[in-house]
Amino acid sequence: MKSRIFVARATFPEVLERLSQHFEVESNQEDRIFSADELIARVAGKEGLIATSSEAITAGLFKANPTLKAVCNTAVGYNNIDVEAATSAGIMVSNTPDVLNETTADFAWTLLMATARRVTEAEQWLRAGHWKKWTYDGFVGPDIHGATLGVIGMGRIGQAVARRSLGFDMKVIYHNRSRLAPELEQRANHAQYVSKEELLRQADHVVLVLPYSKQSHHTIGAAELALMKPQATLVNIARGGIVDDVALIAALRAGTIAAAGLDVFENEPALHPDFLQLKNVVLTPHIGSASVPTRLAMAHCAASNLIAALSGETPSNLLNPGVSKRG
Ligand code: GLV
Repeated sequence: MKSRIFVARATFPEVLERLSQHFEVESNQEDRIFSADELIARVAGKEGLIATSSEAITAGLFKANPTLKAVCNTAVGYNNIDVEAATSAGIMVSNTPDVLNETTADFAWTLLMATARRVTEAEQWLRAGHWKKWTYDGFVGPDIHGATLGVIGMGRIGQAVARRSLGFDMKVIYHNRSRLAPELEQRANHAQYVSKEELLRQADHVVLVLPYSKQSHHTIGAAELALMKPQATLVNIARGGIVDDVALIAALRAGTIAAAGLDVFENEPALHPDFLQLKNVVLTPHIGSASVPTRLAMAHCAASNLIAALSGETPSNLLNPGVSKRG
C-alpha cells in the first residue's frame, strides 16, 4: 500500500504527478492558507508532509499526528519548523539548499541595484506623470561599481552574491559565524573577514544573507544602523526578523542610511504600514528564489527528499541526521 502524504501548498502539477507515482497524495492546489488546527487535521493519517516556509510546523503538529515520519520543506530556510521537536518525535526534516543559490544571489543584486539607483522610486514618479525635463540631480544615488560590498552571512548564497561583485570592481568584506577557508574567500572576490561592526562602518552596500534563528534575531537594529554610512544601502533577502523593521523605518526616515531593499519582513505578508509611505525603500514579496527553473528545482528537491525518506533511505538534505526514525 502506498504511503499517504500531504502537500500543504499549491505546486507544479508535474511534481504532484511524480509524487503520485510513489504516494497517495492529498494536495492543496487551491492554495488555501490553513490555521494551525486545520493543518493538523489535514496531516492526520499522513506519513509525509511537503511544506513551504509559510507554514509553522510545530511540536503540537507532531504530537497530534503520530503517523508522520518526514517533513520536507520547499525552502532553504527552515525556521518555520521546530526541528528539535521533530527529532525528539522521530520525524525526519529536510530543506532545499543549493538549487536556489544562484537565483537568490541574482535577486540580491536586483534589489541592491534597484535600491542604490532608485529604480522603483523613479518609475513611480514617471508613471505619475511628473517627467517634464531632465535634471542634473534627478534620482541620483550612490555608485555600485568601485564601492565596498558588505555581506553578512557568507554561506553558499552569500558567496554567490560576493562572486558577482567581481564585475563591478568592488571590494568585498564579510561577516559570518566562522571565517571561510582561504580558497573560498578568494573565489568570493577576495572577500575579507571583518567584525560585524567594522563591516557596518565600512560598507557602502550591505547585503544580509544569514539564516534566521534566536541568535540572528534583530542582527540589524538601531545600534547597527547607526554605525552605517549615511550614503549606504541595506538589502535583506534572508528572513524577516533579522532586521528590526521599526528601527529600520526610523533610520530610513532620519537619513541614518540612504535606502533599503527588502524582500522579507517581520510578520510577512503583513508588513509594517510605514514602509509603504517611504520613498527610499524597494519592497518585494519574498521572491528571492522566484525563477521558473529554480522554483521547479526546489519542488523536485523536496519531492526527492520525501521519496527517499519514506523509502527507508536518507534524504540528501536531511537536517536532523541524529533522528531515530518513527517506525
Ligand atoms: C526562501 O526564503 C527560502 O528559504 O528558500
